[in-house]
Amino acid sequence: MMNEKTRTALVIGGCRGIGREITLRLAKDGFDVLPTCRKCSDETEKLAEEVRTLGRSCRILELDVRDRAGTRKVLDAEFADNAPDAVIYNSGIAKDNLFAFMDPEQWDDVLETNLRGFYNTVQPLVFGMLARHGGRIVVITSASGQTGQAGQVNYSASKAGLIGAVKALAREVGRKGVLVNAVAPGVIETDMTKDIPRDAVLPLIPLRRFGKAAEVAGAVSFLCGEDSTYIHGQVIAVNGGLVI
Ligand SMILES: NC(=O)c1ccc[n+]([C@@H]2O[C@H](COP(=O)([O-])OP(=O)(O)OC[C@H]3O[C@@H](n4cnc5c(N)ncnc54)[C@H](OP(=O)(O)O)[C@@H]3O)[C@@H](O)[C@H]2O)c1
Repeated sequence: MMNEKTRTALVIGGCRGIGREITLRLAKDGFDVLPTCRKCSDETEKLAEEVRTLGRSCRILELDVRDRAGTRKVLDAEFADNAPDAVIYNSGIAKDNLFAFMDPEQWDDVLETNLRGFYNTVQPLVFGMLARHGGRIVVITSASGQTGQAGQVNYSASKAGLIGAVKALAREVGRKGVLVNAVAPGVIETDMTKDIPRDAVLPLIPLRRFGKAAEVAGAVSFLCGEDSTYIHGQVIAVNGGLVI
């Protein structure tokens, strides 16, 4: 069971876009937070300050999820004796192209960050969570991983891979009290979607608007909280009806 007094949340890719909102929301929920980014900056320091004004501690970890050895070093230094109560895997990139024209870098970069990065960051923490008999793992996947999206064969493959990983891991660790779930956003207003042609996409969304990062963070908060203690191995869609 989670220790309510000292709950900590590691948010991989927790300083920008959706991840930043997840960090803030979990801090509001009472977690001490450890968001990661590749390079600290004035912006990340601002986030840390915001968290502190909420009365929670915030330590930003620098890591690149593609760097297995470097990531392991950072995680071991922080969590060797004390696994986090919640781990959110949010890091992700898109490099879209039609498959017929997709170059090897577009394929490799997306799979390396989105899927291999999940292994590099979450696997080293699972043993500690099992040993403590409790914890939450939430993985940010995508509607593209649920349905497939033209122009995103690489991204869809990586995000569908994460859904498979979540379901399999849930079967492995559930009996030890570690709950594993995925959140699948539709189109959310962040840097990743700033060039999406709104007029073409909005008619596909029954709610007729893009989602907000805070709306994804709300689902993550639910999955890390006390109202979701029997939800396990699931994919929670946050998509305005894009995928039904
Ligand atoms: N926006 C959407 O419509 C949408 C829809 C479905 C799913 N998603 C998923 O939601 C997640 C967040 O997306 P977003 O829209 O917030 O995008 P974003 O604003 O572009 O943020 C991307 C995040 O991924 C991190 N990241 C990228 N490459 C990394 C690497 N090599 N190592 C460590 N971290 C890395 C970034 O960290 P740095 O601070 O180091 O750059 C940042 O936190 C992604 O997994 C994305 O696939 C987004």
